[in-house]
Amino acid sequence: MPATAQPDRTDPSADWWRHAAVYQIYPRSFADANRDGIGDIPGITSRVPYLASLGIDAVWLSPFYPSALADGGYDVDDYRDIDPRLGTLEDFDAMVAALHAVGIKVIADIVPNHTSDRHAWFREALASAPGSAARDRYIFRDGAGENGELPPNGWTSIFGGGAWERVSEADGTPGQWYFHLFAKEQPDLNWDNPEVHEDFLTTLRFWSDRGVDGFRVDVAHGLKKDMDAVHADLDTIHRAELFASGEHPLWDRDEVHSIYAEWRKVLNEYTPPRAAVAEAWVHADRRAKYASPEGLGQAFNFDLLKADFDAGQFREVITKNLGEAAATGASSTWVFSNHDVVRHATRYGLPKGSGWEGAGADGKDWLLNGGRPAEVDAALGLRRAKAATALMLALPGSAYLYQGEELGLQEVGRIPEEYRQDPTFFRNRGVDVGRDGCRVPLPWEAAPAAGSSFGFGSDGAHLPQPAWFKEYAVSVQDADPGSTLGFYRRALALRHELEGPERLEWLGSEDEDVLHFSRPVDRGQWHVVTNFGTAPTSLPEGEVLLATVEPEEGKLPADATAWVRTAL
Ligand code: GLC
Ligand code: CA
Repeated sequence: MPATAQPDRTDPSADWWRHAAVYQIYPRSFADANRDGIGDIPGITSRVPYLASLGIDAVWLSPFYPSALADGGYDVDDYRDIDPRLGTLEDFDAMVAALHAVGIKVIADIVPNHTSDRHAWFREALASAPGSAARDRYIFRDGAGENGELPPNGWTSIFGGGAWERVSEADGTPGQWYFHLFAKEQPDLNWDNPEVHEDFLTTLRFWSDRGVDGFRVDVAHGLKKDMDAVHADLDTIHRAELFASGEHPLWDRDEVHSIYAEWRKVLNEYTPPRAAVAEAWVHADRRAKYASPEGLGQAFNFDLLKADFDAGQFREVITKNLGEAAATGASSTWVFSNHDVVRHATRYGLPKGSGWEGAGADGKDWLLNGGRPAEVDAALGLRRAKAATALMLALPGSAYLYQGEELGLQEVGRIPEEYRQDPTFFRNRGVDVGRDGCRVPLPWEAAPAAGSSFGFGSDGAHLPQPAWFKEYAVSVQDADPGSTLGFYRRALALRHELEGPERLEWLGSEDEDVLHFSRPVDRGQWHVVTNFGTAPTSLPEGEVLLATVEPEEGKLPADATAWVRTAL
């Protein structure tokens, strides 16, 4: 197809992403085929029957590229290869074929804001002189101070500490500084450089040609920066969500959309057009730009993830986002958990107001208290998580699920320091425990082959699995329809049956702690009732298709969701 061709909108599969249930795989922690303790691509292939049994429409794979893992793989050495510890390109092709054979689409994670410091371009930049073309692919500046010994300005890294790192020049003398929004092993690319643009288009084609159906765009609201801006307010330097103007020096600048317009042209060369979803932590009013048909098409909406388990907050978020989607023609996205946040089964078991990072009143991480943290009511957390998930899966739009939530996994609080990997932990000692706790490998088997490994590695997993993971193992839940896994399978299967127009109607309830909406489906209405309160609530007359907690005498107990179908 020539580059100018329009996508074939008559292709019924072109819009699959609008209502997809997408399951996020964190490859190094999903399944380990060769039992060396690190999840791998053949491991994913070996679990295709499991993925098919879930009833998902697509998988999104976090980065699988060669990487020193300074940031869990979001420090990419080579965008067009596979980390040898995870497999080969042939393994990747086999995985895509196996997933496609069961009707599951594949979304790859693309990381355009920064490369790793081991990327060929960065090594070339270090070996080249200040002002060279090789340095211009990144953001190098002379230092301040008499001898350039101070960073060019006071901007900080999102992971803590300064955002500038000084290099040694080729002759060994102290030299220029480079900019990194994240870890120092993640130098930011210069998106004013045409070569950078070209190279990412090549990468999009590389994976699209291999059958990848879509891309998740990491830090999509970064990329374009005004490095000359004098921004004195360091308190808001990483708070893009506070800015509705497009004038923040580092985040969500208007110019970024010209990049995605270029990408969209390339993605539309394919049939069906390749999908894309932006990770953009921006002001709610600005999300639509990322999700426009001329841009990426979809953007994550983290509003529900940030909300407490609270009827009023949920209702407000849902109404606002569906309204926005309707106004722009985009589809909504919903998500509670991913590899960056405390698992929702744990969040909802923490005192209200702990926030999505699980911070306590003193700003310190609750999880620092170790173990399955003392303050967490794990049973309540899981019960609420199932209620929230059942509500989410009934909403119009696409739902993003994170590996392990289908098992009801809790965040792992206690991880020995020598196993810690997240740079957030090391850069914010004693305050922020980081994101390793949601990245502990999945327990596949309850009976460990050796050591404490539940189906992962013969000597244990790269992030150790705690003994209590045993009770969550796939082997324990697999045959039990009453398990959390059984609930996910049932809900996802029903979700397909109940697909209907992207519309919902709120129905009144006497109780402000209860949310009730309905959606038109084939020959009837699909009612969804979530009880956020403490007293049982009545359900509409009809067939109860699903309930996260069994109704008693026709009433739905606290912290539960039911789906009820009523006939026309
Ligand atoms: C995104 C990723 C996160 C990573 C960061 C830098 O926010 O989700 O895991 O650390 O980008 O690439
Ligand atoms: Ca392995």
